Amino acid sequence: MNDKELIEKAVEVMKQAYAPYSKFGVGAALLTKSGKVFTGFNIENSSYGASVCAERVAIFKAVSEGEKEFDTLVVATGTDEPSSPCGICRQVISEFSNDLRILLVNDKGKVIETSIEKLLPLAFTKDKLEERNKQ
Ligand code: THU
Repeated sequence: MNDKELIEKAVEVMKQAYAPYSKFGVGAALLTKSGKVFTGFNIENSSYGASVCAERVAIFKAVSEGEKEFDTLVVATGTDEPSSPCGICRQVISEFSNDLRILLVNDKGKVIETSIEKLLPLAFTKDKLEERNKQ
């Protein structure tokens, strides 16, 4: 699947977001290194803290299906400027595939390419725990 098709998928699922409270739809499309695509949108809850972001839905769907190596993540919003993942999603993204390409897009065709190194510098990662376990 190419970038254009992956972006189209993210924009398409953004429109199905369950966001009755914020009315802010977010779509995600995640391409695995094995070539599979997992999509997600934000799912809100009347108990606001129980809501989950689009990126985490897509990543957790993939991981729960045995996929942990990711190639590209597209995050789509309907904002004038593409919107960037929240802090919790950045931490979840950083757990998998350091070389993941991240495309932030809007539904008007704007695309910004970034990376987890840029979004979450000096991240707390599993190597720190592995280092501690060796001591
Ligand atoms: N949201 C996402 O789905 N992804 C993000 O990275 C930022 C925020 C959702 C959560 C909530 O449903 C709505 O956008 C407004 O915060």
